[in-house]
Amino acid sequence: MDFSGLENLVIEQDGPALVVTVNRPAALNALSQAVVSEFERLVTQLEMAGTDAKWPVRGVIITGGGEKSFVAGADIAEMNAMSPDQALAYGQSMQAVTLRLERLPLPVIAAVNGFALGGGCELAMACDFIYASERASFGQPEVNLGLVPGFGGSVRLQQRVGVGIARELIFTGRRIKVDEALRIGLVNRAFGSVEEMLDAAKATIAEIAEKSPTAVANAKSAMHSMIHLSVEDGLAEEARSFYQAFHTEDSKEGRAAFIEKRSPQWRGR
Ligand code: HXC
Repeated sequence: MDFSGLENLVIEQDGPALVVTVNRPAALNALSQAVVSEFERLVTQLEMAGTDAKWPVRGVIITGGGEKSFVAGADIAEMNAMSPDQALAYGQSMQAVTLRLERLPLPVIAAVNGFALGGGCELAMACDFIYASERASFGQPEVNLGLVPGFGGSVRLQQRVGVGIARELIFTGRRIKVDEALRIGLVNRAFGSVEEMLDAAKATIAEIAEKSPTAVANAKSAMHSMIHLSVEDGLAEEARSFYQAFHTEDSKEGRAAFIEKRSPQWRGR
């Protein structure tokens, strides 16, 4: 993996977890164009490594640097100097990053340690699921700037919390705290401190790392592709994915190990 030259993303490996910290605390980790380009480089590296058996990473954690913020959104100062066409290209470049995060064969957990506003909430929702520390808050405040969400929030917030709550949050620009984010299902789990949250996210990745990498990748891919489908089309997609999984060596090994009452030896294929 080549993560050299990144100035805004700090990358640290801890066992099977790759921790990515967005680190522009002076601007509350706002997603400047430089940060978006670094995310492009990061996802390219992750796509290339994928589930390569020689690479020990089995999941990614995205968090924010400094005390206050996960990511406070798009960089408003930079955006202010853009023409509408430039702003469109900026929005689309981060939209593409969010899609590529969803399509990675590795699970990605957002570990939200503070403000997750606008593009920050959108980045968190492009991850597979969200953990939060007690200081986390969430919102899509674009209406306060006369704007609308631009990095996928209009779609993904409706998917995550349902149309009524998503519309209320987007029309009001209201910021919500962790207890409400938990109640509406935006956040999976909340923790008393950032350290506890990161430890729990690493423990979840370690738990996933004990499973077949192909099975986890297949499950992620199938669940993301069927989220837009009707139940009927979703069932067909699920059957296709199940059939594909059934052919893998890991599936044969998993079934054999169960019957032989032993631990499976995963080969990642
Ligand atoms: C650029 C930002 C920023 C942002 C904060 N800062 N958010 N800079 N873009 N999104 C900078 C501030 O200008 C300030 O810089 C420093 O970070 C600290 O912020 P403060 O406002 O002083 O902190 P605080 O009073 O604690 O308030 C925190 C806050 C507030 C509530 C998060 O900063 C805020 O409302 N930020 C904007 C949040 C937002 O609207 N996000 C959505 C953006 S639109 P200085 O130099 O003064 O110290 C979006 C749409 C995406 O994301 C679509 C694009 C296509």
